[in-house]
Amino acid sequence: MAIDHVLKLYSETIRSSYLHYGFWDEPSAMRIESMTLQDIKDAQSRYIEHLASYIPDDVNSILDVGCGIGGNAEFLLNDGYEIETLSPDDFQQTVIGEKFDDRVPFHHCKFEQFQTNKVFDLILESESACYIKIDEGFSKARDVLREGGYLLASDYFVHFRDTSKSPHLRSSHDLNRYLRSAEDNGFELVKEYDQTENTMLTLDYGKYFIDRFIDPTVDYVVYSAKKNYPKIASVIGKLIKPKLDSKKDQLDLLDSDLFRKYRRYMIFLFKKI
Ligand SMILES: C[S@@+](CC[C@H](N)C(=O)[O-])C[C@H]1O[C@@H](n2cnc3c(N)ncnc32)[C@H](O)[C@@H]1O
Repeated sequence: MAIDHVLKLYSETIRSSYLHYGFWDEPSAMRIESMTLQDIKDAQSRYIEHLASYIPDDVNSILDVGCGIGGNAEFLLNDGYEIETLSPDDFQQTVIGEKFDDRVPFHHCKFEQFQTNKVFDLILESESACYIKIDEGFSKARDVLREGGYLLASDYFVHFRDTSKSPHLRSSHDLNRYLRSAEDNGFELVKEYDQTENTMLTLDYGKYFIDRFIDPTVDYVVYSAKKNYPKIASVIGKLIKPKLDSKKDQLDLLDSDLFRKYRRYMIFLFKKI
């Protein structure tokens, strides 16, 4: 199967074993200019600690759906749970294989297509719920959970729509539709937590980093190219402009005020009834 190169880029730049936003206990206490990559990594560790506090006491076996590069699975394994992992991504398959050897089974497929005879106590979808088709995802979760088992989802959902073309309105499930599907598929919502404010600092840091380091560097490279190779720079500039414009639109994804306007980053603990 394919490789998600955006996720691969995150893993190679941040170099933590997580692919999620992280969790900030006191975001207002941080000063963005003095933040480091280590602060981001610490927030990512804190995220799984906080998320794991939602796992009920009667859980032993966990299927980590959309396991990424294994940070959450490792944390849960060390916490004494029996873990299996799943992802459709080739790169992640290699990373998980190298990280755990044979200690943690890996299922290489989309969750919607997962086949097993086994049942689990809990399915974890940490920032992977938005990748999984809503109805198929709940229906599959029902199949692979024991009676009274749980689905713990932590992800961002669209809570407001307008006529804008904001990228925040794409690649995320509609909050109400997601909750309706849970109910229609026989899941009861037992706990929820809105962690939007605990996650936005990561976006703010990403935006700060791009504004401060990436944009000025790109400006300088463009200036130098135009000065030294004016003809080639003009041809290349025209060729790549539409692509660059669409990438700039994607940078809105780092705007935390726009995130708050359209999305909520939720934790949902559902129980199969
Ligand atoms: C943003 S990453 C989150 C990774 C990890 N759970 C974490 O919290 O660090 C999203 C994960 O969902 C996986 N994914 C994408 N489509 C999927 C699908 N249809 N079924 C299961 N996992 C999927 C990706 O390959 C990736 O592992």
